[in-house]
Amino acid sequence: MIMRWIMNKKLKVIILAAGQGTRMKSKVPKVLHKVLDKTMLDYVIDASLKVGAEDICVVVGHKSMLVKKMIGDRVKYALQKEQLGTGHAVMQAGDFIGDEGSVLVLCGDTPLIKAETIKEIFSYHTEHADSATSVSFIKEDPTGYGRVIRSSEGEFLRIVEQKDGTPEELAVKEVNSGVYIFEAKVLKEALSNLSSSNAQGEYYLTDTMEIIKNSGEPVGVMTAKDENEFLGVNSKLDLSVATKALVKRINEYHMLNGVTITNPENTYIGQDVSIEADTIILPGTTLEGKTVIGTDCVIGPNTQIVSSEIKDGVNIKMSVLMNAYVDNYTTVGPFAYLRPGANIGEHVRIGDFVEIKNSNIDDGTKVSHLTYVGDSDVGKNVNFGCGTVTANYDGVHKYRTTIKDNAFIGCNTNLVAPVTVGENAVTAAGSTINNDVPPHALSIARKRQVNIDGWMDKK
Ligand code: UD1
Ligand code: CA
Repeated sequence: MIMRWIMNKKLKVIILAAGQGTRMKSKVPKVLHKVLDKTMLDYVIDASLKVGAEDICVVVGHKSMLVKKMIGDRVKYALQKEQLGTGHAVMQAGDFIGDEGSVLVLCGDTPLIKAETIKEIFSYHTEHADSATSVSFIKEDPTGYGRVIRSSEGEFLRIVEQKDGTPEELAVKEVNSGVYIFEAKVLKEALSNLSSSNAQGEYYLTDTMEIIKNSGEPVGVMTAKDENEFLGVNSKLDLSVATKALVKRINEYHMLNGVTITNPENTYIGQDVSIEADTIILPGTTLEGKTVIGTDCVIGPNTQIVSSEIKDGVNIKMSVLMNAYVDNYTTVGPFAYLRPGANIGEHVRIGDFVEIKNSNIDDGTKVSHLTYVGDSDVGKNVNFGCGTVTANYDGVHKYRTTIKDNAFIGCNTNLVAPVTVGENAVTAAGSTINNDVPPHALSIARKRQVNIDGWMDKK
């Protein structure tokens, strides 16, 4: 609905992300710092995509190759070789702006912006038939932000930056969010009139608002309600404030959808995670990437799940899962590690100190303790004794191990791949199996025990 509405209006988006972010005191460009599992820039791009932006251009500069590599080709890029200010940054996207339609400008360091709000700003802009609309909010401590200066009648006059303001101007608590919508032609015209005669010697995008107003075009400032949403992250301290606010927002969303979160303050759920009602998330749990969790699960405590799919009624305790799939009513942990390609069936038991990688484990199988299963295809109702290892790697190549339905793998068995254990076969404890075991056979591959009578007495 929202998407179609904006698509009809053709909205282009420019995201400013060329700055180093000196105040972050980091070798990593500011916009690549993460809030939960995504970079700040990702959030801004995702919000733009969610409203159905026609086209997105990210202005890159400081370590631009790195930024492009991290963000990929879902957006276009413009290069700002030297960071001469936010206005100068937008100038670099001149070709992208074109001559028609509206252009939304966002900053790559405001990760909390919501798609719904962008829509609201766009409605405001269209309803007022403004040539330029900026967004302000009220901040008790406005330090660092540009201040919105109005006449005594409340009419917008200009935006004054922290470093340029008089004490009187700096006392103003209405601040500039760094979010704007311009009509393309008007923006281009205003950019060509920008000057850098200010305290920082920069071309400020904020000055375009005053320029456009003074040229007689209609200009609007929409005052937003939620100050959190426009939090500009300039330091690691700001980053922690943004993280806290996002954690609260996301966890509240899930709880209102019927998910139980025992301690929302130390439960970290990424924006792209989905969880069905009646699942319980215990303290110390981190859910990341495009993780999908079904209903009636108990997850945690102290569990990390990245980009995995968990079906219904699953119990995962103190474990780490990466790109794994876990089917209904399976239990995992404590202390299990499911690595990429771990594909676990229904009613499976994955116990303590078990690592599974690139393997299919079919329904009803038990891998209860101290076991490594890599590059394997395991059938139904197989029982792994404690301490089983699949030796899948000869130093050059990796090979698969196949274990058929109902096999019983004795404790401390080494399975040297490529190897197959047949249906209903048994391997004796302590065996090193490097030849296939036929179905229903018992395979013993270890030296026989020798008892030497009276050995201690002779010693
Ligand atoms: C800017 C605004 C300020 C506003 C605040 C909101 C200006 C002059 N000031 O200040 O009014 O209150 O955001 O958060 O616009 N960037 C470039 N190229 C540059 C400079 C900056 O791409 O040459 C990018 C940065 O990477 C960043 C964004 O623009 O993502 C904002 O720059 P930043 O230096 O953080 O501006 P603020 O001082 O926070
Ligand atoms: Ca900023």
